[in-house]
Amino acid sequence: MNTRYFTITDPARESAAVGQAAEILRRGGLLAIPTETVYGLGADGLNEDAVRHIFEAKGRPQDNPLILHIPDAGWLARYCKNVPETAYRLAERFWPGPLTMILSKADCVPLVTTGGLDTVGMRCPDHAVTRAIIAAAGVPVAAPSANTSGRPSCTSAAHVREDMDGRIDGVVDGGACRVGVESTIIDLTCTPPRLLRPGGLPLEDLREVLGEVAVDKAVTQPMAAGEKPRAPGMKYRHYAPKAPVTVVTGAPRASARRLLASLGERDGVICFDEFAPLFAGQIVHRLGASGDKLAQSQRVFDALRTFDETQVPAIWAQCPDSAGLGFAVGNRLKKAAGFHTESADEGVLVLGITGGTGAGKTTLLRALERHGALVLDCDAVYHEMLRSDAPLRADLTAAFGEVFAPDGGLDRQKLGKIVFGDDAALARLDGIIFRHLPRALARRMEASGARLIALDAIKLIESGLGTLCDVTVAVTAPEEVRVRRIMARDGISEDYARARVRAQRSEEDFRADCGAVFENNYPTPAQAALAAEEFVDTIIKKSKED
Ligand code: TXA
Ligand code: MG
Repeated sequence: MNTRYFTITDPARESAAVGQAAEILRRGGLLAIPTETVYGLGADGLNEDAVRHIFEAKGRPQDNPLILHIPDAGWLARYCKNVPETAYRLAERFWPGPLTMILSKADCVPLVTTGGLDTVGMRCPDHAVTRAIIAAAGVPVAAPSANTSGRPSCTSAAHVREDMDGRIDGVVDGGACRVGVESTIIDLTCTPPRLLRPGGLPLEDLREVLGEVAVDKAVTQPMAAGEKPRAPGMKYRHYAPKAPVTVVTGAPRASARRLLASLGERDGVICFDEFAPLFAGQIVHRLGASGDKLAQSQRVFDALRTFDETQVPAIWAQCPDSAGLGFAVGNRLKKAAGFHTESADEGVLVLGITGGTGAGKTTLLRALERHGALVLDCDAVYHEMLRSDAPLRADLTAAFGEVFAPDGGLDRQKLGKIVFGDDAALARLDGIIFRHLPRALARRMEASGARLIALDAIKLIESGLGTLCDVTVAVTAPEEVRVRRIMARDGISEDYARARVRAQRSEEDFRADCGAVFENNYPTPAQAALAAEEFVDTIIKKSKED
């Protein structure tokens, strides 16, 4: 079959194309249509043959009912019986929009459409092109998501082409889907109303109108064999990647730490934007910023589709909290994972401590130790890794040749000569270190079970480690103080000490990078220790309040 492609942006001015698309529906053909949630695979919902063709084209089980799409709430009474007043209230408030209501079906709606049920899902999509086509066709449009059964839903016409080209009569390209996850489904035939699928309309919004809303078990748990969820579709896994998926819940930084600690070298990653640099070298799909749930819902299916073309042995995904659109995003991820989830440890406070030589980080680190903190010296960990971390050693050898001495230790002079004065080589070296060090630290943090952890790192921010920290602290002191400290500590001349201080990033840079500053400039060590104590107390107290 030759699939026709329509691009319609303004239905009022492109009425000829709208008419041709509507004609496909009226004739009993299959037409992929854009909606604000995902693309639908539409046919005349009153035409049994046409509806059967939908199931064939999708490879969809016959018992999985379809939603009827209508251009406005005025059509409800044609296809539904005993429409409750709440349905009209919901329509008034949320239609057109990502809400499907389950109602008692009228006799004219065939059982093929409803998978044999005496109820029917009704939805008015928020897409002007599609509403114009339905109105022109004059029939309610039965439309499941336009993906092949078992694949992620289509959020662009290109996805639809991938799955349906040659199998259907037409595709209407109406641009990328604004919401990206399917509609929220609410069953209004029971009391209290029951959420069957979280979707583009947040549950909180529904509760504002309906008061109490029950959440169907199938939304949060896998179905046992033989168990029947109220939305038959919820028992099918909508996407079954070859690789096992693990979804990690918990606060974004905590789940990032868990991912980084657990990840295999070739595993795929679905993460929030701010953590993506930590996973350099892996196949990464960004879900959007951790605070931007609309971006996450727009990208979640794309993320899952990405991995279809790869050979990753496993996929790890960060999961948003379940407020607002996060409920739907998390549900789609968890379904893809067969509800295989881990929850990251949330009660852990990780502090990143940075600052130049002589600024006095040690004072703060000692105070943290007195509070029971596990202090990880990033430089020391790096040196240990140079001996024991095979992937790090392999990357260094691949980039710089045989830089390890016969006894196994790094030949510092040799590496030093290669990178000295060569900015590109130095950047390459940093890139390698920054790829391996954060995951080694994450593994140590996760394995330690410590509730309070301090990372001591001069390059806290450049290495990406800062993004794993709940609080970043710059320790600073005036240049004169630092110079005297270094002279006393390392027994070097003033000129040399000053040169070292000036070779480092400025105090301003450290301050600008960090969430908090500890100004370590006290007349005596005892006073400094006391100030550090108070500083740590305040940070811990504040973190408990948040
Ligand atoms: O956003 C959406 O709802 C998209 C766009 C195209 O409108 N459509 C969509 O359709 O997601 P579909 O078929 O992929 O998912 C519909 C879900 C299925 O899980 C189905 O079992 C459930 O709705 N459903 C449909 N009619 C039902 C009914 N009468 N009772 C219970 N569940 C129903
Ligand atoms: Mg679907």
